[in-house]
Amino acid sequence: MSKIFVDACLRKETPYTPVWMMRQAGRYLPEYMEVRKQAGDFLSLCHNPELACEVTIQPLDIVGVDAAILFSDILVIPNEMGMALKFVKGEGPIFDKPVETEAEVDALLGGEEAANRLTYVYETIKLLKQRLPEDKALIGFTGAPWTLATYMIEGQGTKTYNICKKMMYSNPELLHKILKKVTQVVKFYMIKQIEAGADVVQIFDSWASAIEPSKYDEFSWKYMVEISDFVKEKYPHIPVIMFPKGVSAFIERGLVYGNFDVFGVDWGTPMALAKEKLGNKYVLQGNMEPCRLYSKEKTTECVESLQNIMQGEGHIFNLGHGILPDVPVENAIHFVKECQRVSKK
Ligand code: CP3
Repeated sequence: MSKIFVDACLRKETPYTPVWMMRQAGRYLPEYMEVRKQAGDFLSLCHNPELACEVTIQPLDIVGVDAAILFSDILVIPNEMGMALKFVKGEGPIFDKPVETEAEVDALLGGEEAANRLTYVYETIKLLKQRLPEDKALIGFTGAPWTLATYMIEGQGTKTYNICKKMMYSNPELLHKILKKVTQVVKFYMIKQIEAGADVVQIFDSWASAIEPSKYDEFSWKYMVEISDFVKEKYPHIPVIMFPKGVSAFIERGLVYGNFDVFGVDWGTPMALAKEKLGNKYVLQGNMEPCRLYSKEKTTECVESLQNIMQGEGHIFNLGHGILPDVPVENAIHFVKECQRVSKK
């Protein structure tokens, strides 16, 4: 059976424009909070294929999206490269020993060896393949090397990225060494997710906007393209989605290139600009400002405007970044229904 989401990624005819949401599972769903309580903490939930499978499926049943995104986190990658990770309530993810020196980078596990340790992710995908309805696609994912490197170098989320940027401008060789090492792991990780059953993969570059436009290619985009090239060479039929958040200046200058299928447009980039610059080359995903979900009226307004711009051609509805924990579930359901309503043929 064909999957509407995969068809849309590959620009095939679909009955309506499919929709999914970034951070589809999570704290806005009481059902998720219940399972997380059962798991103990967030990382234990990521490590538990049975429960991770359950929370992956929840948004399909509850909000009616057209594709499932694997429940996991981007930071399990550096964790399995050997960096101890914890999630602290109110603070988010923390690596106690951030990487600072060449010797520390050398000491991290690399390539297939690190990717092989992410067994719980592949187990979750295998369970999902058995349990997902046949017409629903499963989206696997990774963080982009740059976004992963920001956590590995800063040890946690940051507002200024000063430690990474000090490295970028005073010791770029070390930053490239880290980015290359992460890229090698992610290449194998993507292939293994696909071999376990992922139908599509997305690369999240959530902190792309921290890099000035003239340096973005050198420190992030080229590594993302290296990963997508690797995937497309081995599995040309598997759609690859790139999501670099906050790069409208990079788009405007026509600097987006590479062998992938879908470009995820963030909420700060006008969809009309993305269409003009990229619409003939890539399917566009996005891009409602997630905070519009606080108002049903403003949600409908945005969905209609997106439909007017894209006309259902080469488009996938989504938020322009992740959903926030205090969004009412009924508003998320409203978003999904409105996308399906306005685009029905
Ligand atoms: O989208 C989905 O439903 C799939 C699951 C998913 C999670 N994280 C679950 C999660 C995905 C795709 C991610 C990716 C991720 N993780 C990114 C890139 C995407 C983005 O939103 O930009 C980033 C930067 C991370 C790192 C990360 N994980 C942070 C900064 C945090 C703390 C966030 C916060 O608001 O506290 C997490 C934790 C996390 N990952 C949660 C979920 C559901 C919340 C954990 C919880 O308390 O249950």
